[in-house]
Amino acid sequence: MDIPHITRRSLIASAVTGGAAALLAQPAGLIEKAAAAADPACDPHGAVSPFGIHQAGIATPAPEHLQLAAFDLVAGTTRAQLIELLQEWQNAISLLTRGLPLPDAALPDEAPADTGEALSQRADHLTITIGFGPSLFDDRFGLASQRPAALVDLPAFTGDALVPTRSGGDLSVQCCSDTRLVAEHGLRTLARMAAGRAVVRWVQAGFNEPPSNPADGSGRNLFGFKDGTANLDSSDAARMARNVWVDPADGPAWLAGGTYQVYRRVVMIMKTWDESVLSEQEDVMGRRRATGAPFGGTRETDPVRSELMPLTAHVRVANPRTGTDSENERILRRGYSFHDGLAADGSFDAGLAFIAYQRDPRRQFITMQTRLAANDALNEYITHTASAIFVIPPGTTATGYVGETLLGAVPPRVTVPNPAADLRPPTPGAPAPAPPAAAPTTPPAAPTKGRVVPPKRRKVIKRRRPKRTGA
Ligand code: HEM
Repeated sequence: MDIPHITRRSLIASAVTGGAAALLAQPAGLIEKAAAAADPACDPHGAVSPFGIHQAGIATPAPEHLQLAAFDLVAGTTRAQLIELLQEWQNAISLLTRGLPLPDAALPDEAPADTGEALSQRADHLTITIGFGPSLFDDRFGLASQRPAALVDLPAFTGDALVPTRSGGDLSVQCCSDTRLVAEHGLRTLARMAAGRAVVRWVQAGFNEPPSNPADGSGRNLFGFKDGTANLDSSDAARMARNVWVDPADGPAWLAGGTYQVYRRVVMIMKTWDESVLSEQEDVMGRRRATGAPFGGTRETDPVRSELMPLTAHVRVANPRTGTDSENERILRRGYSFHDGLAADGSFDAGLAFIAYQRDPRRQFITMQTRLAANDALNEYITHTASAIFVIPPGTTATGYVGETLLGAVPPRVTVPNPAADLRPPTPGAPAPAPPAAAPTTPPAAPTKGRVVPPKRRKVIKRRRPKRTGA
């Protein structure tokens, strides 16, 4: 299908005159049709729907650019203000992920609602994923009894050198897009809207360049190795049910269809790595650098044979392949490389913004990282400098907001346990598990205010030109 090329600029006029409500209320409009018809896989600037059982930005393909941030709610912010903020963010997300700017109220003496740097871009696969940190469940918002048991504070791991101001946070916002400008615009917009209620605690940018030749397989990390080879296949629904999505049987009910996000800022010590010989590098990783093949194999996709690599090889320690336990530990990695210039000692401040999604961080990330911190040969070449954990609420509808099942007393949309989420090993001879039950159709969530509240505007002070004296 031929999709008309629609830029933000070509639409801003209608946004300005029509207003947000009108835009949000025209599902059959040109933009919506173009966005829906665009196949994200074929259209490099296409749109990814922000609505569904799960939030976008987890199982959806990872675009090239990341802007990850944590926010802290300012002292005195009430539960009602938190809900209002999440609703306003949602309304903005539904515009931005369609490639639309925040609409202006057409008042000439106010700063523009939209900052404008993405006006010439389309949706560019923007996804915005919202998370809640453990601190949100303290006594400020009456949420302590709703804190999921699996939302534990991450323990201190051997070798950690964490910077507190770059770690933790009440809320997380993960913006991903194929254009850096669009990802940055998404985060900046949400940060402006939060004014007076939440402040940005830290930001981490990242990039993920795919190979120029797609036949080359996985992209490479900054140590030159193909990364992501043995990752979970996010299009495998049964595997995602088993390892990533929180099942209704896991509890709490509000979280069914959600997941947990772990972030680690891992500095990679380039100088030491670059001075080590190739065979040493390959022993550290447990794969061949040129092809990504496991030891004993020739292709990236060949099966891993742990017994052929050193006991301390990263791949072997991360996944010892000891049967059901190893399978149940597996995580969905969605990391990005980062390069933040120079550190104080003159070395490159670069590495991996490790992001992983999982159903229970106690069984998955924490178990794995405890083992890696103690035994991974890669530790000589890396330092974990920041850390955070967030619970990721389930997705929402066009009339709801992310977090509504926790804060808005809206019933969870997923209520029936998924047989594919059963972690026990299959009993020999037992029939295969039944296909997952279809999600029950529940009435759509109560409509929110359905408006975009632009960030607090500053009055433009019009400077008078000094009168010419003619001198
Ligand atoms: C800078 C830090 C890191 C680098 C450079 C790195 C690099 C790699 C590479 C090259 C692979 C092999 C290709 C692949 O299957 O994706 C790999 C696999 C893997 N890594 Fe990492 N990694 C890092 C940190 C971590 C951390 C912090 C974790 C989790 C706690 C982790 C978990 C895994 C897992 C689970 C696998 C797949 C093992 C398998 O099933 O074969 N990695 N990593």
